[in-house]
Amino acid sequence: MQTKNTFYITTPIYYPSDRLHIGHSYTTVACDALARFARMQGKEVMFLTGTDEHGQKIQDKAAAKGVPPQAYVDEIVAGIKELWKLLDISYDRFIRTTDACHIESCQKIFTRLYEQGDIYKGVYKGHYCKPCESFWTDSQLKDGKCPDCGREVYEAEEEAYFFKTGKYADRLLRLYEDNPAFIQPESRKNEMIAFIRQGLQDTCVSRTTVPWGIPVPFDQKHTMYVWVDALSNYISALGYSNSAYNDYGKFWPADLHMVGKEILRFHTILWPAMLMALDLPLPHQVFGHGWLLLEGGKMSKSKGNVVDPVVLCGRYGVDAIRYFLLREIPFGNDGVFTNEALIARINADLANDLGNLLSRTVSMVEKYFGGSLPGSEGRAAGEFDEDLIGVVSAMPAKAAAAMEQLLIPQALQEIFKAIQRANKYIDETAPWALAKQEENRPRLAAVLYNLCESLRFAAVLLAPFLPGTAPRIAAQLGLAGDNAALGYEGLAFGGVSRYTVQKGEPLFPRIDPEKELEALASAAAGPAPEKAPEAPAPAPEAAPQEHLAEITIDDFAKCEIRVARVLECEKLPESKKLLKFRLFDGERERTILSGIAKWYSPEQLVGKHVCIVANLAPRPMMKGKYVSEGMILSAEDDEGNVTVVELPQGVKPGSLLG
Ligand code: ME8
Ligand code: MG
Repeated sequence: MQTKNTFYITTPIYYPSDRLHIGHSYTTVACDALARFARMQGKEVMFLTGTDEHGQKIQDKAAAKGVPPQAYVDEIVAGIKELWKLLDISYDRFIRTTDACHIESCQKIFTRLYEQGDIYKGVYKGHYCKPCESFWTDSQLKDGKCPDCGREVYEAEEEAYFFKTGKYADRLLRLYEDNPAFIQPESRKNEMIAFIRQGLQDTCVSRTTVPWGIPVPFDQKHTMYVWVDALSNYISALGYSNSAYNDYGKFWPADLHMVGKEILRFHTILWPAMLMALDLPLPHQVFGHGWLLLEGGKMSKSKGNVVDPVVLCGRYGVDAIRYFLLREIPFGNDGVFTNEALIARINADLANDLGNLLSRTVSMVEKYFGGSLPGSEGRAAGEFDEDLIGVVSAMPAKAAAAMEQLLIPQALQEIFKAIQRANKYIDETAPWALAKQEENRPRLAAVLYNLCESLRFAAVLLAPFLPGTAPRIAAQLGLAGDNAALGYEGLAFGGVSRYTVQKGEPLFPRIDPEKELEALASAAAGPAPEKAPEAPAPAPEAAPQEHLAEITIDDFAKCEIRVARVLECEKLPESKKLLKFRLFDGERERTILSGIAKWYSPEQLVGKHVCIVANLAPRPMMKGKYVSEGMILSAEDDEGNVTVVELPQGVKPGSLLG
């Protein structure tokens, strides 16, 4: 087994032809979890992602928009970086194929391959699919159409340079044989072997008709054609044949190229063949994961049926989306994205299993011990402890073993098994019954301590998957910033000597599936497409006074506006704009964040009766640290001054407006 302490992991470099969708997020989130897990294990990680910016399609898109291709991709790449920030992607480097260093490397690679005879000039005849930027041979076409996307292809013939992929067929077959783990999952290896055995064609690597590409240095009428340009990113980004970076020696060969199954072939045939020709070490592993499907078809930028990750994160929170992507789909297989499945996962695993374990535990520590548990002298071991401690203590190694094999959902399953075991422990030990008798206090203390320890383990192990949630768990356990307690290395049950907890917001508010699906359906049916909260549409230019489209009484009836009493109100240290409210809505308490700190000091509003939109989808704010459960109504005048709508004290909390 490999003992080196570096870990180099890559995503595909995505085409910035359009905004990315949840499918791209899937690959990137999976790589992020693997990268974070490796860092947690003490490895020095290089996590690379980026964009593949040349080619016909981008040239066409830019032309249609009337902007130069560079300006076109710049804008989309900025959006992609925003998306990765939103999704908490901890990439170490972002490579763009329009970066000068990449262009320099590619040109040197191309020239060298030409000079040594691995690239030669020939004539290309074939079928070309524009959206996929792929040439296909007769036998590859499916019913005369592109085998990947099913669209029309057209005949193309032109002078082109070719890379001698065919020359490497035997070495490639031997590579797979000698390194059984090179192609993952196992099942896809046979497809690659069959593809080579049917006769490996040389690969067309230049075009004369696509100006938006890297010029072939010794023949300027050619630009490089997609794959040599694209694949070289994995080494140009480390500084191979350029001086912008210099960690090639440290990180190459890559430990893992993560890709979707449709480009596995390029990564397991063409790329190793190129590296063989360059006499460079080969990556250890290429994993071709399955597709995220949308009711029957693969979502793709070129098909238009896209699920916007920004909208999903705005609605459910970043970690809920990350969790769903990582947990729901057996890694390697295809999986269908549905809102039903997403909501079910959030409710079952995050709100119930994890969220309840934390809130029950912390509440009981507060209720029975005023928030502070005694140290070991005040705790008494008892029945069920051993089993709980066994399951929880074994969990980190089991999760790590699953991650080692890239079984990401199984790793999460192991963590959640421990969480479920802890929930069962509450039922078994019945702390509320123990609390009734003074002589049981040491036992009660031990039970709650064991629960806190279980939650600490969960916080540590969940951090690579749910980076926003783990610190929230730690904070409620009173361990914020306690690196010793939250370290993976040396994690041992009993490692924290005593707990002082601090109750916080629920981690993941439960979603009412029926209401939520209805809301989604009406949002989807509405005239305007759903907009991400982060990117409000600019106001239409010639609109002095804004008016919204007419709605029916039924539309209005979907808004549940209630009177609520302000119980507490506080400033947030992290925000100049926001006030955090605790309100009673007639039925329960809820938290709402409102951007009115400029106009009100917190004490002005405590005790007031205000109006809230009670059925607004809960929205994570401040990077998921808080969840705002509704909206407080206020009026805004022409100058932008805000006045909260107040009702007399006689109007009871819970009263409906309408
Ligand atoms: O292929 N399900 O870029 P691309 C799962 N530039 N993963 C998906 C997906 C889906 N529905 N849709 C996209 C390219 N992906 C080339 C790559 S690499 C040297 C060059 C993910 O923008 C998946 O990882 O079409 C897939 O391989 C990749 O996005 C394709 O992104
Ligand atoms: Mg694609």
